[in-house]
Amino acid sequence: MIEAKNIYLAYDENKFIIKKGTFSIKNKEFIFIGGNSGSGKSTLLKSFYGEIPLKHGNLTIDNHKLNNISSKNLKTLRKDIGIIFQDYKLIKEWTIEENIMLPLKINGYAHDVSVVQAEKLLAHVKLSHRKGYYPNELSGGEQQRVAVARALAHNPKIIIADEPTGNLDDYSADVVWNLLKGANEQLGITVVVVTHRVPKNFGIRSRQFKIQDGIIYEVS
Ligand SMILES: Nc1ncnc2c1ncn2[C@@H]1O[C@H](COP(=O)(O)OP(=O)(O)OP(=O)(O)O)[C@@H](O)[C@H]1O
Ligand SMILES: [Mg+2]
Repeated sequence: MIEAKNIYLAYDENKFIIKKGTFSIKNKEFIFIGGNSGSGKSTLLKSFYGEIPLKHGNLTIDNHKLNNISSKNLKTLRKDIGIIFQDYKLIKEWTIEENIMLPLKINGYAHDVSVVQAEKLLAHVKLSHRKGYYPNELSGGEQQRVAVARALAHNPKIIIADEPTGNLDDYSADVVWNLLKGANEQLGITVVVVTHRVPKNFGIRSRQFKIQDGIIYEVS
């Protein structure tokens, strides 16, 4: 699903954030990525959805080569990816169901199909009673559930999450972990999550990577 061979990532030529990154993530795996603040976790995730270009090496996501990817091919790749951030990144002028419909809008779904899908996902994340609300009217945990619903909306093959529970209390974090587990187990979605704190007794098969001094290690 994700193949990285000797990838180098940098914001400027003189300082590589990731060096010789080589790893392989199979379809339907659940992967945790750890590492100190500033080690390059977010940078690595950004390379997966083409937000920063590769300096060297080869990166393939779901058979799309990221090297010099055209904007047309990037759009196709992003159809397969759902993204979740620590700070939710919801559009505050839109209702929560309009937020969930965003990836559907981008990917050209018919409006009535999107409305039905958004209702289904609101129910899935147990927020049907908040329909018509705006993000600011919800708690942090509820906003993150909207963000999870948005990430699932267009039936992605991969979910990429950057510290999705970083701002949440233990209870809300558990709810988000369970939604991600369900996405992996029931929907067969490959999940790659950056987190400082891997949950204890996670209950499903997963692997852990760690970034240190620009090198990506598998933690056994
Ligand atoms: N847009 C940018 N331009 C230049 N340098 C950047 C940019 N974004 C991040 N960096 C640098 O790249 C390095 C890795 O940053 P990154 O955000 O990937 O770390 P991280 O592991 O996600 O950290 P955190 O746990 O704090 O989120 C840091 O030294 C950071 O200062
Ligand atoms: Mg980060």
